[in-house]
Amino acid sequence: MISSSGSSFDLLCCLVVLLILPFSSLSSDPDSLQDFCVANLNSSISVNGFPCKPDAEVTFNDFFFDGLSKEGDTTNVFGSKVTPGSVLEFPGLNTLGISMNRVDFAPGGLNPPHSHPRATESGVVIKGKLLVGFISTNNVFYSKVLSAGQMFVIPKGLVHFQLNVGEGKALTFTAFNSHLPGAAVLPLNLFASTPAIPNGVLTKAFQVEDNVINAIKSKFGS
Ligand code: GLV
Ligand code: MN
Repeated sequence: MISSSGSSFDLLCCLVVLLILPFSSLSSDPDSLQDFCVANLNSSISVNGFPCKPDAEVTFNDFFFDGLSKEGDTTNVFGSKVTPGSVLEFPGLNTLGISMNRVDFAPGGLNPPHSHPRATESGVVIKGKLLVGFISTNNVFYSKVLSAGQMFVIPKGLVHFQLNVGEGKALTFTAFNSHLPGAAVLPLNLFASTPAIPNGVLTKAFQVEDNVINAIKSKFGS
């Protein structure tokens, strides 16, 4: 008797898990609960997404954004510049589950290996030639050289990069299924965090001596 009610309970748990799993694994940002919700970035309330501006204060300007129109300044160690168009720059995106970036590259420039914890990324090359690559969780490296008009997709959360392999500058626009995809940039995460990761962790992880770790950290000003 006891074991039969126990097994019905187990069965019920399995059914609940099976019903819930597809939703959590297919979801990106949650669906909107209203037509729009222009973010009030100054609100002191902390929620998942930003509170909405009152409708009476919403204007057409809330739905247009020209922050991606200018070339980014690529004079930095990587020779690339990501200009974000997320909810933080374009509050009209709040709760709508989408956003875009503009990425400019100097010749030889690299958008360094990074991942987006909350979004799948797709992109289209507008100018130049980019080596686009990502690495699966099985450590398989997928890559291709793309030129203007060609698209790519980076599955959610996977480490990826773009390297300018053409003669001149390059440009790509990228799109995300999140209003705030987030970006964990590996070289900065590992070698320029605050406070710094202890060298002992990094020497063991990369199987190198202390001086190598110090040399890498010094490139990022720490
Ligand atoms: C490119 O990888 C981007 O995150 O915009
Ligand atoms: Mn990216």
